[in-house]
Formats: sequence, C-alpha cells, structure tokens
Amino acid sequence: MAWRKIDGARTLVTGCSSGIGRELARELARQGARLIVTARREERIRELVHELQEAGTEIHSVVGDITEPGVREALATSVEEHFGALDLLINNAGVGAIGHFAKADELRLRKIMEVNFFAPAELTRALIPLLQRGTHPMIVNVGSVLGHVGIPKKSEYVASKFALHGWSDALRCELGPQGVDVLLVSPSTTKSEFFDNVLEKRDHLPWLSLGGQSARAVARKTVRAIRWGSYEIILTPGGKALVWADRLFPTVVGYFSSRLG
Ligand SMILES: NC(=O)c1ccc[n+]([C@@H]2O[C@H](COP(=O)([O-])OP(=O)(O)OC[C@H]3O[C@@H](n4cnc5c(N)ncnc54)[C@H](OP(=O)(O)O)[C@@H]3O)[C@@H](O)[C@H]2O)c1
Repeated sequence: MAWRKIDGARTLVTGCSSGIGRELARELARQGARLIVTARREERIRELVHELQEAGTEIHSVVGDITEPGVREALATSVEEHFGALDLLINNAGVGAIGHFAKADELRLRKIMEVNFFAPAELTRALIPLLQRGTHPMIVNVGSVLGHVGIPKKSEYVASKFALHGWSDALRCELGPQGVDVLLVSPSTTKSEFFDNVLEKRDHLPWLSLGGQSARAVARKTVRAIRWGSYEIILTPGGKALVWADRLFPTVVGYFSSRLG
C-alpha cells in the first residue's frame, strides 16, 4: 500500500467531542488535514472547531447522533459540498456497557451494535462513492483489542468490535483492488471519557485502576499508521501479547479471562 500525505487530506472523523476522536482531529489538523468532525455534544464540537480554526485548519462540523440515517446523510452532503471527494474516513465513535450479558436486556445489545457496528457500516456505504473519487483513500475503523479477544462483563461491546474487525477484513478485500485501503486500529484501555459514558455500569472491571494509554498517544500512532498504509495496528505491547496468546493458547487465555468474570 502507498505512503500517503496527511497535508491537504480531505478527512471525516466521527466521535470528536472527546477522547481519541478529539485527539485524532487535533493531530490530523496539526499535519495539515482538511476536516469534517461530528458527535452529539454541540458545545464540545463548537469548541473544537474554534480551536482548530484559530490554528488555521479548514474544519466543518455536523452535530448529531451517528445512528440516525439523516445525520449520516448530512455528513455525506457536507463532504460533497465542502470537499467534492473524501480521502480519509475515520469511524471512531463508540460506546460500551459493563455487566454480565444474562443480567442485561436486548436494548443494551441493540444500542451498542447500532453505534459501534451498524452506524460505521452504513456511513461507509454512503461514502464509498466519494472515497472512490479520493486521493489514496482510506477507511480507518477504530476497533479494540476486544475485537480480537473476548472477556466477561463486556460481551455486547466485544461482539460489536469483533463484527467491526470481520467487516473491516472483508471490506479490505472488496475495496483494495479499487484503490481504497482499510485500516483496523485496535487500542487497549485508553484514558478518555469512555468509561464515564458507558450505557450501563452494573459491575466493575478491576484492570481499569491500572490506567491506560493516553488518547493522544492513540491518535499519534493511528495517524502514523494511516501515513504508512498499514492494514491493522494493535497499539500496545500488552495488547499484542494478549492477542497472540489468545491465538496460540485460547484455552489458557479463556481460563484466566473467566476468572475475571
Ligand atoms: N477508551 C478505551 O479504553 C478504548 C479502548 C479501545 C477502543 N476504544 C474505542 O475508541 C473509540 C473512541 O472512544 P474513546 O475512548 O475516545 O471514548 P469517548 O471519550 O467516550 O469518546 C466517544 C466518542 O463517540 C461519540 N459517540 C458516542 N455515541 C455516539 C452516537 N450515538 N452518535 C454520535 N457520536 C457518538 C461521543 O460523542 P457524543 O457523546 O458527543 O455523541 C464521543 O465523541 C470508540 O470506538 C471505543 O470503542 C476505546
């Protein structure tokens, strides 16, 4: 795959009101990208637009819920009007929940799948024609180490990120020959608002107290992988070790994971 320039890249990033998405917008702006940003919290998006405009970035915004078809249509219209084509689509918006599957209801599963899987899939479908007109276009899907390894108390989230992983691999095969690359980014635990924003917290995850990587570090590594045209990145040594251990010794990893539940 080709080495690509960020300078001038026409880019859409979802989930920019906090955490990884906001840091991605900042890092991409620093490297000269032209941006469309989106999320539901209007004030946060307004602040980001102001900050990056002050620094000389071309930035536009669409405020709304990514699970609504009308919001995804508005994003496609914004790309068409402002850029005419798209070079980078970053599907980052995501949500989780903590607690056992058996104690939750269907709504929790459906909400998580809507935000983490159906919304990015349908946004991508709407934007493929604009990506096909782009320069070295790339779709970047922000997954998780939990899109490679299952753990207890996050079953719906794990399912959504495995779905995103499988879909990314299939899409890469379909779109690669047409010149559209697909990168799957798999962060480990990251310091952001993610665990404050979970849909439900019916339990606790003991490893959260260990902290995690910064959202800024995730953004920088992601932008580097975009430039180098990677297929997939797992961002921490611990994440890589867990994914490889699970591939090589699934019963051992399964045994220790079940003791967390
Ligand atoms: N934090 C971690 O430990 C971790 C680890 C691995 C992977 N990830 C992944 O990284 C991505 C970013 O998460 P983060 O850690 O940066 O969490 P975060 O700070 O909570 O950011 C999540 C972003 O998604 C947006 N969002 C959520 N639901 C939305 C909806 N229905 N419509 C539109 N936007 C929505 C939020 O904006 P609004 O609320 O303003 O809409 C926010 O901007 C997610 O896909 C997450 O699964 C996170």
